[in-house]
Amino acid sequence: KTLYVFNGPNLNLLGTREPSIYGAQTLADVQALCERAAAQHGLKLDFRQTNHEGALVDWLHEAGRAQAQGAAIGVVFNAGAYTHTSVALHDAIKGAGVRLIELHISNVHAREAFRHHSYISPVASAVMAGFGVGGYALAIDGLVMQHRASEG
Ligand code: DQA
Repeated sequence: KTLYVFNGPNLNLLGTREPSIYGAQTLADVQALCERAAAQHGLKLDFRQTNHEGALVDWLHEAGRAQAQGAAIGVVFNAGAYTHTSVALHDAIKGAGVRLIELHISNVHAREAFRHHSYISPVASAVMAGFGVGGYALAIDGLVMQHRASEG
């Protein structure tokens, strides 16, 4: 089965972007970390990044279809700044019926007030924030746990 990791705007800049907040590791490093975590669970990783909101909508629909067909277990999603702005992503997750863990590298609740509200949280099965890029591996473990629980 496939496990999706979707990354939104500006996450292609990881490593050089505000390293005091997001750390020194690049998106390629994060992908490698996710590959290891997925392999430990015998899952195939599909790891993506885009700066375009509509592409994320399309990908969420695709992941929902794959999950409905039994070909995928869900999504770990770092929506970046779209977390705080996007009704379209909220609706896409709801409409696609996809299992999804919201992820943030930083602890958004300890930062500016405009980062405290999330359009993703009400349609996420769980939220992970503040563990640095290591949170991706923790979120993958959590997604697998929720998938197994749903299988009974
Ligand atoms: C982020 C937090 C968001 O507020 C911010 O816009 C990002 C990254 C994080 O991973 O901590 O782009 O999602």
